[in-house]
Amino acid sequence: MAIKESELIARIKATVDESALADLRVELLGRKGLVTEQLKQIGSLPPQQRATAGAEANRLRQALEGALSDRQTELQRARVSAELSRPLDLTAPGARPSFGHRHPVSLVLDELIDLYWQMGYQVAEGPEVETEWHNFEALNIPSDHPARDMQDTFYLEEAHLPRTHTSGVQIRHMEANKDKLPIRIISPGKVYRNEDEDARHSWSFYQIEGLVVDEGVSVADLKGTLQAMMRGVLGDKTKVRLRSNYFPYTEPSVEMDASCIVCAGTGQIASGTCHLCGGTGWLELGGAGMVHPQVLRNVGIDPEVYSGFAFGFGPERIAAIKYGVDDVREFWRPNFKFLEQF
Ligand code: DAH
Repeated sequence: MAIKESELIARIKATVDESALADLRVELLGRKGLVTEQLKQIGSLPPQQRATAGAEANRLRQALEGALSDRQTELQRARVSAELSRPLDLTAPGARPSFGHRHPVSLVLDELIDLYWQMGYQVAEGPEVETEWHNFEALNIPSDHPARDMQDTFYLEEAHLPRTHTSGVQIRHMEANKDKLPIRIISPGKVYRNEDEDARHSWSFYQIEGLVVDEGVSVADLKGTLQAMMRGVLGDKTKVRLRSNYFPYTEPSVEMDASCIVCAGTGQIASGTCHLCGGTGWLELGGAGMVHPQVLRNVGIDPEVYSGFAFGFGPERIAAIKYGVDDVREFWRPNFKFLEQF
């Protein structure tokens, strides 16, 4: 026989690692391997020799398979015992898995929800695709009202639109709960506007809406609530200032400013004018006001008996102030270097 079995077995025994052994297995038993070639040649032998040659080839294959698998076991054992005998440093730092963490805007939202929870508010949610009634009309913003232009948006079919603010949740909640007063809710969520993007504006952003309806609710309650909220998120020393403004759904309406956290409301820092508030000492944070009597009437609540206040803020702006971020678009970019800092 041309193939020397003992030489092949010796080669198998001499392999130094598992990958060399795998190569040799292919060379001997693979589709184009030695044994296969030998089996193929049997067909061309005279018939009386075929049976013996066939038996011989099969025996050779079995012998080689046995030797390959023995060597495989030996090499595997050697590898594992080498790995186990390597000195083990139990004090070496491990590879820490990365779990990620809450998004900075979620952190601010959670903080706000927590604060309001303590003041007895419930969280109410509304749909992101809203009706014109809830988003505009019931809030005293008829279709020809200029206040609509300020919140122009993408329209969908049949008087539906991606909501331009969370104020529509006020309407939904009052409609559903007008017989279960008082109401004390906040409503966080995403809103959409046809807006040119810049460092302070984006076409999609978060808002957090607040609404209280009860007997005898006053501007003092509104101011006290806003103050408690701003002290909670921006620090105990934060002051709140209300400036007159206009919203169709509140009367009176105010713009709310908080004292600047960088210059503590002075407008000045060691190097000159404060960069955050631009020297005014105040940060514009949101809108608020006493719920307009017509809005209460629109949902079937008697404004002679009940009054309320409402407010709306942008949590991205609060997060930007709190964490010193100068471009709100950064929050929604898939940039881990930025997000890992929080
Ligand atoms: N909806 C207003 C906006 O998106 C914010 C706002 C102002 C909400 C006054 C209110 C409010 O609830 O009373 O700009």
